[in-house]
Amino acid sequence: MRKILVTGGAGFIGSNFVLYMRGRYPSDRIIVLDKLTYAGNLENLKSLASGPGYLFVKGDINDSALLDGLFEKEGIDTVVNFAAESHVDRSILGPKAFIETNVLGTFTLLEAARKNWSAPGDKRFLHVSTDEVYGSLGDKGFFTESTPYSPNSPYAASKASSDHLVRAYFHTYGLPAVTTNCSNNYGPYQFPEKLIPLMIINALKGKGLPVYGDGQNVRDWLYVEDHCRAIDTVLSRGRLGETYNIGGRNEMKNLDLVNEVCSIIDERLSADKSLSVKYPFKGSRKGLIHFVKDRPGHDRRYAIDCSKMEKELGWRPEHDFNSGIRKTIDWYIDNPGWWERITSGEYRDYYDLQYGDRI
Ligand code: NAD
Ligand code: TYD
Repeated sequence: MRKILVTGGAGFIGSNFVLYMRGRYPSDRIIVLDKLTYAGNLENLKSLASGPGYLFVKGDINDSALLDGLFEKEGIDTVVNFAAESHVDRSILGPKAFIETNVLGTFTLLEAARKNWSAPGDKRFLHVSTDEVYGSLGDKGFFTESTPYSPNSPYAASKASSDHLVRAYFHTYGLPAVTTNCSNNYGPYQFPEKLIPLMIINALKGKGLPVYGDGQNVRDWLYVEDHCRAIDTVLSRGRLGETYNIGGRNEMKNLDLVNEVCSIIDERLSADKSLSVKYPFKGSRKGLIHFVKDRPGHDRRYAIDCSKMEKELGWRPEHDFNSGIRKTIDWYIDNPGWWERITSGEYRDYYDLQYGDRI
């Protein structure tokens, strides 16, 4: 029975991971530590009841006293670090929180593990990172685990710093650490500041679909459940001190992706009378697409070579984009309460700031 500390477990990927692990390993104890920033949402975890298998703690990964208490009292033997500020656009508007959580917070968490794991034998510290640390690709080529780091946004730079700290703690102190670098995720519970949920919700509501620049930037998309399974795989079989690239082998241009989301929503709504009454719209939602001012320093292309995960650990994505995006759109259609609560309040201020002078 493991005692797994999941930091950032109330966010998008963290909560999907907690639910996945709960289903797969009923006897592990999962302790979620989350600061509940705008991106953390306890509703994601409402199906879990506190008890021997699960505990939620509201707190900051920068709080070393809180971390020491948890390591000691709970006997934490596994850490999965999702806690982060995660949105590139917000890092451009205000980079400080990214340094505080992603760099200093990861440092504080590493220190807690180093201090409290005197016999690191069967312990694991898995740091969840991103492909954005590698920078931007041209038309050809892929990021491998040996691609030099070349972060371009404050978000990517803060994640790169945290990855370097994790590496250093393995090499210097023998901390049993491993890092994963994953491509863009999508799926249930994703905060609608990111491309896919923003486009789904705006398309349902008949609002404009803002595509940055020329819409030709390329991302590699992975359904979140495949990412959760990859992390589980690396936790149990990954080699310490290694990094593993995780990706969907599914590159898409932003404009093509948004068009695809519109087609599926058009099709879903025209096939369902009650939905077409709820979200009335004439014509195709593709007509809502408009190009807006580009993101400063916008990386052109990300593409992951995940052959190390495939060959060494036998993992591969189970969802292709068509199945993953349909599940995702259905989830947002079936859970309007979840995103309606989020898109009132603070989100509106963010939306005005981010898109107000772009259009
Ligand atoms: P998210 O923004 O949805 O969630 C982040 C969570 O961390 C939130 O619940 C938030 O409350 C919590 N948090 C923030 N600061 C904290 C702090 N100081 N202490 C404790 N908790 C704090 O992010 P996400 O999309 O779920 O991403 C999770 C991790 O995966 C991040 O580290 C991100 O860099 C990485 N990642 C994300 C993607 C993606 O496409 N979303 C891809 C690759 C890697
Ligand atoms: P995003 O979901 O923010 O992820 P990341 O920047 O980490 O890759 O954005 C994905 C891509 O979509 C990126 O190229 C920026 C673009 N984009 C838009 O064109 N319009 C939008 O409103 C958003 C949020 C993103």
